[in-house]
Amino acid sequence: MAQKIAVLSQKGGTGKTTAVRTLADVFRRTGLDVLAVDLDPQGNLSDYFDVDPEATPTVGDVLSGSARARDAVHDGVIPANLSLAEAELSMAGKMGRELILRKALKDVDADHDIILVDCPPALGLLTVNALVAADWALLSAEAQYFALQGVEQALQVIELARDGLNPDLQLLGVLFNIADMRTVHSREAYDSLREHVGDKLLDTVVRQSIAYAESAERAVSILDHRPDLGEDYVQLASELLGRLGLTSAPRAAHSSRTSAP
Ligand SMILES: Nc1ncnc2c1ncn2[C@@H]1O[C@H](COP(=O)(O)OP(=O)(O)OP(=O)(O)O)[C@@H](O)[C@H]1O
Ligand SMILES: [Mg+2]
Repeated sequence: MAQKIAVLSQKGGTGKTTAVRTLADVFRRTGLDVLAVDLDPQGNLSDYFDVDPEATPTVGDVLSGSARARDAVHDGVIPANLSLAEAELSMAGKMGRELILRKALKDVDADHDIILVDCPPALGLLTVNALVAADWALLSAEAQYFALQGVEQALQVIELARDGLNPDLQLLGVLFNIADMRTVHSREAYDSLREHVGDKLLDTVVRQSIAYAESAERAVSILDHRPDLGEDYVQLASELLGRLGLTSAPRAAHSSRTSAP
């Protein structure tokens, strides 16, 4: 059985997709088998992984019931495109609409150690599906003063999923993402999050750098594009593996880092 992690935020642009992409890279370099699921009709994760835009079936086909999850895996990714928006609309009218992804992933659960689900920037039906399918929720919060507000709303949705359809869902952590800790503003935002979510706030902070946009554009992992920055994600992965009870240290990621130019 895979450990299934939904990566979400109430706001857009908090670094969710970059986190899913890069964590998948680090986990894979430690030898774990990772499936990444793009659950955003924007298809950014599929782009970041450079999946062929024509690849079919996609997650939209899986959720609308016309394909099995297993057949939608392309190089470790179940991609998404705009057809997912259509699938979401058709899901809305179905009985058990919150359970569709959970049922679909049963097909691939045994094949992977970790399944990462990249949610769209809204707390709607797709994100609810991810939370109902997941064992863990990972919240990404952009290092801004308003981060707290978004985190609180996302926490409420997690609570709803737990109260209703997925009592076993656990909060893996809150990630302080795209941070410039040299500014007082970021440090204050971090402290206020710490006050509110306590030790759910992850110790690892992902630093802000323009290199992430470059690496996304080139579909090259930050681990290879800028190994010095990639170190944040190596550390984050290690912290998360500890919380997941998967103790294997990300050794392979370290060795690739030292051998990179
Ligand atoms: N640590 C970082 N520093 C600077 N820029 C970053 C960082 N991480 C991601 N970015 C950039 O911020 C933008 C948004 O990132 P990303 O797509 O990962 O966010 P998202 O939360 O998935 O967005 P959306 O809500 O639209 O799905 C992208 O241009 C990405 O390259
Ligand atoms: Mg995204």
